[in-house]
Amino acid sequence: MERVNYIPQMTTELKNKLNISVNGIEVSCGTESRILDALQRAGFDVPTLCYDERSGPQGTCRLCLVDVEIDGQTQQVASCTAFAADGMKVETHSDSITEYRKTILELLLSETSSPANCPRCLYLKKCDLHYAAEEYGAKWDAFESLVPREKASDDNPFIQRDYDYCISCFRCTNICNDWEQVGAITVEGRGQESSISTFFNNNLLESPCTFCGQCINTCPTGALTDRKIIGTTSAANVERTKSVCPYCGVGCGIHLLTEDGQIRGTEPDFGAPSRGSLCVKGQFASWEFVKSEERLKYPLLKEDGVFKRASWDDALNLITSRFTAIRDESGPDSLVLWSSARSVTEANYLMQKFARIGIGTNNIDNCSRT
Ligand code: SF4
Ligand code: SF4
Ligand code: FES
Repeated sequence: MERVNYIPQMTTELKNKLNISVNGIEVSCGTESRILDALQRAGFDVPTLCYDERSGPQGTCRLCLVDVEIDGQTQQVASCTAFAADGMKVETHSDSITEYRKTILELLLSETSSPANCPRCLYLKKCDLHYAAEEYGAKWDAFESLVPREKASDDNPFIQRDYDYCISCFRCTNICNDWEQVGAITVEGRGQESSISTFFNNNLLESPCTFCGQCINTCPTGALTDRKIIGTTSAANVERTKSVCPYCGVGCGIHLLTEDGQIRGTEPDFGAPSRGSLCVKGQFASWEFVKSEERLKYPLLKEDGVFKRASWDDALNLITSRFTAIRDESGPDSLVLWSSARSVTEANYLMQKFARIGIGTNNIDNCSRT
């Protein structure tokens, strides 16, 4: 039997491991592993719609169901919620499971608007729902279409809420409540009548929402989309470049979204230490200054109350003479230097050297505490 090993995250897993068989291949996992965790780490592809590892398993979409045989008994369990057990035999793509997933997807599709107009699929990339539907050959019109959910009329500038595409997976409310600890959105109603709402059904701008964008990024459909990017890209052409948000010293991981050489927006980098978290600036605005007409491109000196273009020599000579005069007159601690979190580490290092050695003060700071 071929053996697949993966590197356990915690040392305790090395001491306490289980052996399970997946599609006839032996796999090791930690004693407290859920089946999905073991499958994903060993490279087995099982579709999920309601699962976000940051807010934990819910077991509501049932798409991750697998056949499990233990002690001679076979049953179908949701791999995101069920724990692995020693000697367990798992089948991820039996005929019945594959057919079951197709039916679930067709039922979910019958609750939503046409895939042809899905904003996420049009402007960013194939959403998880429509990706899985294509993979399992699930048809949008296999079942009678249910009345679409009411669209939220919300004129906030950042998040388009189009619940015609909502599948009630509740990833958005879980991420907002459990991961972001904001609690701006909640579930209202039951069944097909259920919807994602704010308290008192206010607009997001009137709610505690911080516009972190996490609900957009966890949503597996086009129900929540970055409003600023809608209409500016096409999913087929948009390119992603790994980068770091330049706004503050935390340095959250982002992917810059570009098309035709122009930056159109950002997405979080879930592989970065920030694990996909961003603030409103990183999510919606960290790239906009690149295009600003007000960016400084050369030194400006004020003459008679008006800024005029100057040479670097003139600007640096003025700075030197003023710094020297102030230090000589009032002492080095009369000066304070602010470095920039947007600068590279080496530039910040030089800045603190300049403060301490050049001027003779410890008054040097920035938001990342150089
Ligand atoms: S943007 Fe952030 S705070 Fe606002 S609803 Fe979404 S997850 Fe909650
Ligand atoms: S809006 Fe998206 S994340 Fe929220 S419940 Fe609907 S499909 Fe799930
Ligand atoms: S991903 Fe397991 S039930 Fe939805």
